[in-house]
This record gives sequence, C-alpha cells and structure tokens, in this order.
Amino acid sequence: MRLTLSVIKADIGGYVGHSSSHPDIVELGRKSMEKAKKDGLLIDFHVTWCGDDLQLIMTHTLGEDNEKIHKLAWETFEAGTELARKLKLYGAGQDLLSDAFSGNVKGMGPGVAEMTFDERPSEPVIVFMADKTSAGSWNLPLYKIFADPFNTAGLVIAENLHAGFSFEIHDVKEHKQITMNAPEEIYSMLVFMGAPSRYAVKAVYSRGTGEIAAASSTQRLSLIAGRYVGKDDPVCVVRSQGNFPAVGEVLEPFAFPQIVEGWMRGSHHGPFMPVSLAQANPTRFDGPPRVIAMGFQLANGRLIGPRDMFDDPSYDKAREQANEIADYLRRHGPFEPHRLPLEEMEYTTMSLVMKKLAGRFKEL
Ligand code: 13P
Ligand code: 13P
Ligand code: MG
Ligand code: MG
Repeated sequence: MRLTLSVIKADIGGYVGHSSSHPDIVELGRKSMEKAKKDGLLIDFHVTWCGDDLQLIMTHTLGEDNEKIHKLAWETFEAGTELARKLKLYGAGQDLLSDAFSGNVKGMGPGVAEMTFDERPSEPVIVFMADKTSAGSWNLPLYKIFADPFNTAGLVIAENLHAGFSFEIHDVKEHKQITMNAPEEIYSMLVFMGAPSRYAVKAVYSRGTGEIAAASSTQRLSLIAGRYVGKDDPVCVVRSQGNFPAVGEVLEPFAFPQIVEGWMRGSHHGPFMPVSLAQANPTRFDGPPRVIAMGFQLANGRLIGPRDMFDDPSYDKAREQANEIADYLRRHGPFEPHRLPLEEMEYTTMSLVMKKLAGRFKEL
C-alpha cells in the first residue's frame, strides 16, 4: 500500500510559559483529527506534544505537500490558537507567521516532515520530536544512524544495509540542496553536516533500493519571520528494520547528549536530553532541550502505538550526563560558548547598547 506519513507541528501557545502544552489544546487537536478521519481524509492519526509544541502525526494516501492535509493542519493550529488566546497561554499562535493559508504550510511557520512509501509487511517507524532547539539538531544522530558503523552494526554486517545511504542536505540560508553518498563522500558531507545552523539533513535514502529512510523538518523560523519568534523545535521520521537500521540502531545516537542550540530565548547551547513524554516539559532555564521518540508499527496506514521509546532506564545515564553538562554550561552565564555567538543569537541588545555608547567608542 502506497502511504504518506505526515508530521506537522507548531507551537500555538505554551503552558506555563514555554514549558508544556495545555491538555485542552491537545484535545482540540485530537477532535480535529478524528473528524478528518471520519471524513475519509486521514487513514489514521496520533496527536501528541513535546514541550510547548503540538504534534500532528497523520497517515493518508494523498502524497506530500498535499493542500488538503496542510489545510487541515493549519486550520487545527488556527482553532488551537483561538483556544490558546482564551486561556491566555503564553505566545498564543507563536508559530503561525501568516494570516491566511495559501496551499501549503511550508514557509508559514509550522514544521513539516513527510514521506511517501510502500508499506512493508512490517513497518516500524520512529517519530522524533524536539523542543527548545533548531532544525539542524538531527544532523549528528542521522549521520550516526545511517553512516557510522560504530553506531549501526548493520552497515557492516547486514547485507541489505551494506550499500550505504544518501543524504539530502539543505542550505537553509541560501535555499540550495545537495545529495551526497555515504560511505564514500563522508568527509565532504561532514563539512556541511557539522555546521547544523546552516546545513540541515532533509532526507535520507537507501542506496540499495532507493527507498526513503528518513525525513525531517528543516524550517528556520527566524529566517522566515526575520526576527526571533521561538525556536524551530524540529521533527524527524525514521523508518526502521529490514533495509533500514534496526530500532536500537536508530535510537542509539541519543544516548549521547550532544550539544545543540536553543534553550533559553533560543540563544544558548545546551545538551539534547532524550526523555519520555512525561518528562518532555522543559523548565530549567526553559530547558535543557528535549527529544522524545514515539515508535509505531504501521498496519495498512493505521498507527499501531505509540511506544514511548525513551521511557527506558538505559537512557538514564544520558539524562544524568545531560544534567551535568547543563550545570557546567550554566556556570558560563552570559558568556560564550553557553551563549550563542553574536551572529547566531536570536535575541540581542547589541544595537541598542551600541547606539547608547556610540559617542564613547574611541579609535585605538
Ligand atoms: P518575553 O519577552 O515575551 O517574556 O519572551 C521571553 C521568552 O520567553 C522568550 O521567548
Ligand atoms: P519555544 O521555541 O519552545 O517557544 O521556546 C522559546 C524560548 O525562547 C524559550 O526560552
Ligand atoms: Mg513557545
Ligand atoms: Mg517549543
């Protein structure tokens, strides 16, 4: 069965501050999806949240960038924003950067990860969702999952993974894309992937079969809005088993709490902490950044699940380490590298301060 899996997300209001989502907003999302399922637009759906971001996970047969599906998501976010305003939630409608829907939510604020494929006899997929970080944060885990034999044993010892994977990398500032092949181009690939504020992996494909293996949201909110409105808080969908890495290989990179950008006011570096849904409510200095993983088995488009994949003591160590890194970085206060470099900061008083002090700067 040819199927499209669409994950569309937006921050339409935080509860309390930017820390979590209000249950009434999540309920509204579910009702809207339920109606679309009854109307035959969706095969199935799952509504969840990560911090203050509402997540719509949908299956259908209409393909990617479909106007009906994107409109459904947009209208759900609009209705949610109205409710968020009534509850006076924080930053109601934060990620809705346009007043009118024009066919596709791309470039309008919400994050989108979509993929179309023939559902296999058994189709395990993992939906990763993050809060308090930016789009390029999937680069390191995607590299490890699909290109690093020290992470993914299958690249070495499983015949169906041995041909490697290709990576579609987007330059989010210049709006260009390039596809590169692992393993033979990894050194060149890492020149780009290692700079995640500019280059983000949009998709990964199996080189053995050409099938889509992973898709992520790469929208940079600040570049769309031209100012800081909130962090991208991206999503990423990864297919697993068979011609793809095993579930444990897909989850393994998150045992390392890599340092990502985001956290307080979107302007700090912090550790990426893998958590269960119950722990996806970032409160310490509005963080540290979180990632959740919801696992599903697809059955003719039905989303069987989710299993809350990081709800496992084997990730306790990563969380503990993330807390240690958080402590260490916090002690830098307003100093780099905790604070982002000037050009990457979402907030700055630089022009204000410069203006005030203009007359006091002397030539050296
Ligand atoms: P305010 O200036 O609206 O309080 O925003 C701070 C903040 O929460 C960053 O998004
Ligand atoms: P969000 O992007 O999750 O809304 O967080 C904004 C922020 O500035 C937190 O300090
Ligand atoms: Mg918010
Ligand atoms: Mg958020």
